[in-house]
Amino acid sequence: MTDTANLDTLESDVLEQIGATTDEAGLDAVRVAAIGKKGSVSLLMRGLGKMTPKERQVMGPALNGLKTRLGDAITARKEALESAALDAALVSERVDVSLPVRPTPTGSLHPITQVMEELAVIFADMGFAVAEGTDVEDDFHNFTALNFPEGHPARDTQDTFFMKPDADGNRKVLRTHTSPVQIRTMMSEEPPIRIIAPGRVYRCDWDQTHTPMFHQVEGLVIDKETHMGHLKGTLLDFLAAFFETDKVEARFRPHHFPFTEPSAEMDVRYERVGQAVKVGSGTEWMEILGCGMVHPNVIRNCGLDPDVYQGFAFGMGVDRLAMLKYGAPDLRDFFNSDKRWLAHYGFSPLLQANMATGLS
Ligand code: DAH
Repeated sequence: MTDTANLDTLESDVLEQIGATTDEAGLDAVRVAAIGKKGSVSLLMRGLGKMTPKERQVMGPALNGLKTRLGDAITARKEALESAALDAALVSERVDVSLPVRPTPTGSLHPITQVMEELAVIFADMGFAVAEGTDVEDDFHNFTALNFPEGHPARDTQDTFFMKPDADGNRKVLRTHTSPVQIRTMMSEEPPIRIIAPGRVYRCDWDQTHTPMFHQVEGLVIDKETHMGHLKGTLLDFLAAFFETDKVEARFRPHHFPFTEPSAEMDVRYERVGQAVKVGSGTEWMEILGCGMVHPNVIRNCGLDPDVYQGFAFGMGVDRLAMLKYGAPDLRDFFNSDKRWLAHYGFSPLLQANMATGLS
């Protein structure tokens, strides 16, 4: 074929085929048939060698031009097909954002975790740091340094769980209270000291208001001019913040603890309304914590001079506070790991975050 008019026909034929393609595979078939290695245009180009120089002068540029134009048309069609495919996908794969999400099971915070966090936040506002001890304690930290005399019945009144004796005959204990953290802190830190120590404690006990493992928060302040007014003010501020009202009424009753002198127990006024307990009104008093001025012997046992340093301490049952504030009637339910109970009494971790950042 040496006639450029035929080339025009070929060109319009192929362009028509290109325009009629509806997908990439069809377009590629047209490309191969026209400008592929064995395509019609390529075969014509191969024929150039057999032409006279004059013919070649005409047909060479004509075929090259044709090949370029067809290539361009194929590229343009390819892009058009691709963008049409994308548009179609966007329409058919549209995400319906108005569809309600499927419910996913969410966990909740145990009331004790919640109350522990609340206590840490409230006392942090008053300048208290959090200190920790160990659940397995030695006799020295749990009793002796806290001024429990050797062989004193007080060691038994706490219903202590004893471990098997060590090689040297000493018996470690599961700590019966968080007070040993006072000793650990005073022995490792320089006053002024202002700590709370939240944690698990253990006593051999089991009824509606006692479980063998429960939780306490200990508080300790040691400084040079600390007195009972500070103790009282701190605890009253704490009560108002914890129960979220200024109306909580508290009373201090003289008591005895070996590690404080004078010692007191603090009660809050409450009444029972059905199953629930209401704090701040009524005629009943509930004991919620023990407290007092740290005994000079305890200060001395920790290597500090009681003529220079004095302070106050307190210890409270977290579980009882949780029962009081959130109204669960039986302490044993706290530790039954019943998911339905947790779903009812548990707390959203998101509310928790709000509380910790002070936005609730
Ligand atoms: N450790 C005491 C108990 O478990 C509670 C307590 C009372 C702690 C008075 C104190 C305190 O720090 O000063 O019964």
